[in-house]
Amino acid sequence: MIFDTHAHYDSGAFNADRSELLASMPDKGVGLILDPGCEERSSRAALALAEEFPFVYAAVGIHPEDMEGLSADSLETIRTLARHEKCVAIGEIGLDYYWDDTHKAEQKELFAAQLTLAEELDLPVIVHDREAHADCLELTGRFPNARGVFHCFSGSAEMAKELLKRGWYLGFDGPVTYKNARKAIEVLEIVPPERILVETDSPYMSPVPLRGKRNDSSNLVYIIDKIAEIKGMTAAEVEQITWENGKRLFGIG
Ligand code: NI
Repeated sequence: MIFDTHAHYDSGAFNADRSELLASMPDKGVGLILDPGCEERSSRAALALAEEFPFVYAAVGIHPEDMEGLSADSLETIRTLARHEKCVAIGEIGLDYYWDDTHKAEQKELFAAQLTLAEELDLPVIVHDREAHADCLELTGRFPNARGVFHCFSGSAEMAKELLKRGWYLGFDGPVTYKNARKAIEVLEIVPPERILVETDSPYMSPVPLRGKRNDSSNLVYIIDKIAEIKGMTAAEVEQITWENGKRLFGIG
């Protein structure tokens, strides 16, 4: 079975067919899904989906793009939500200098606070790193007990080596199937299979040949096929090992 470790089914893009679509996933070979929150509302919505579907788990956190309207209570709310029995991680959290490079200090402060919370609760984290590689590497390095995944990893092979040494997992999404995926392929070549997670980031980032369409977890087969080709493994082997990796990192089963 496939474990999609990153899919936003709480997104409005699924309002028309969310329940039917999720209910259809086990028949399409998708046995586990992790829905990460991006702020208070989506964290609660992810938990509600996890309550409704036995194969859905949630993460709770505040995404760097969703800092607007943040109050002193927001982190306390995340702390409370994180105690839910189906919350398996803090995320998605991190730094995004692509959308906003004018609030770097605030982004770092929020990221550090959530890394502290994850250490305190002994939960893994789901890191969003967009055009902020050096700062993400430096900041996570300040938390020796922090563990988790760099979601949709877009750093260099050098950065990957450093994260692997520290025990992190790397997540791979639709971009590995794009024509210009040279960097992601270089990274995949050096990542041991037992540190790879497969993610869709649904409803975003559909893989080739579905680029531009709404994404869902059943499209992970295209990403798994591509990884299998690069690693010289069968798709079934990639599916099996990433299933086990996700369960191990997020403490499921
Ligand atoms: Ni995401």
